[in-house]
Amino acid sequence: MRVILLGPPGAGKGTQAEKLVESLSVPHISTGDMFRKAIKDGTELGTKAKSYMDQGKLVPDEVTIGIVRERLAEPDCQKGFLLDGFPRTVTQADALNEILTNLNTKLDAVININVLRNALIERLTGRRVCKSCGATYHIMFNPSKGDTVCEKCQGELYQRADDSIETVGNRLDVYEEQTAPLIAYYRDKDLLIDIDGAQSMEKVLADICQALEDIKQ
Ligand code: AP5
Ligand code: MG
Ligand code: ZN
Repeated sequence: MRVILLGPPGAGKGTQAEKLVESLSVPHISTGDMFRKAIKDGTELGTKAKSYMDQGKLVPDEVTIGIVRERLAEPDCQKGFLLDGFPRTVTQADALNEILTNLNTKLDAVININVLRNALIERLTGRRVCKSCGATYHIMFNPSKGDTVCEKCQGELYQRADDSIETVGNRLDVYEEQTAPLIAYYRDKDLLIDIDGAQSMEKVLADICQALEDIKQ
C-alpha cells in the first residue's frame, strides 16, 4: 500500500509508523529521520537542514522534494511505502503527485491523526529517543523499562533539540499555517481518513489498521 501519515508534531506518526510497517511490509520513510541522520553524519544536506530544524521551521521545499524523489525511486518502494512527515506543504503534495504519476502509481490513503494542541505540547516535551536504534518513548505515557537507557538495545536516551518548549510552539504554528491545508487538499481527492489520535497507542493503531482494511475491500 501507498500511505501518508499526516498530523501535527507529536500526533504519533513515528510511533504508529514503527508498528504499521511490520504489518504492511513497506518501508517507513520519515523526512525528519532522514534529516536527523544527515546531521549526525555531518553531510551537506545535514548542514542545510539543521538551521531550519533548530528553529522549528520547515526545510525548503526543493531540498525536501529532492530527497523524497530519490528515496521513492529505490526498489524497495515498488511494493509500497509509508510516508511520515511528508508532504508538509501544498508544493510538496503537488510534487508527490507528479513523482507518483511518473512512477505509474498513486496513493491509497492519507491517514490524518488528530490530537489537540495542549496534549501535543505534553507529548513533545516529554519525548525521549534512543540514540542507537531511534525507538521513541515518553517519560510518562510510554517510559522505557530501562529507565534512562533504551529497553530494546540499551542505547542512551536523549531529548530532540527541537523538543524544547520554545521550539515546540513554533513547530505547532508552522504546522497550522503550512501543513494543515493538506487536510482539505486530500479530502478533496477522497483520500483522507480521520483518526482520533488522543486514544491509547494500541487503540490508535487498531483504528488505522481497520481503516486500511476497509479501503482494501
Ligand atoms: P519530524 O521529525 O517529522 O517531526 P514532526 O512532524 O514535528 O513530528 P514528530 O516526530 O515531532 O511527532 P510524531 O507525530 O512522529 O510523534 P511521535 O510518534 O514521536 O520533523 C522534524 C523537522 O524536520 C521539522 O520541524 C522540519 O524542520 C524538518 N522536516 C521534516 N519533514 C519535512 C518536510 N516534509 N518539509 C520540510 N521540513 C521537514 O510521538 C510524540 C510523543 O508522544 C512520543 O513521546 C510518544 O511516545 C508519545 N505518544 C505517541 N502516541 C501517543 C499516544 N497515543 N498517547 C500518549 N502518548 C503518545
Ligand atoms: Mg516523528
Ligand atoms: Zn534503542
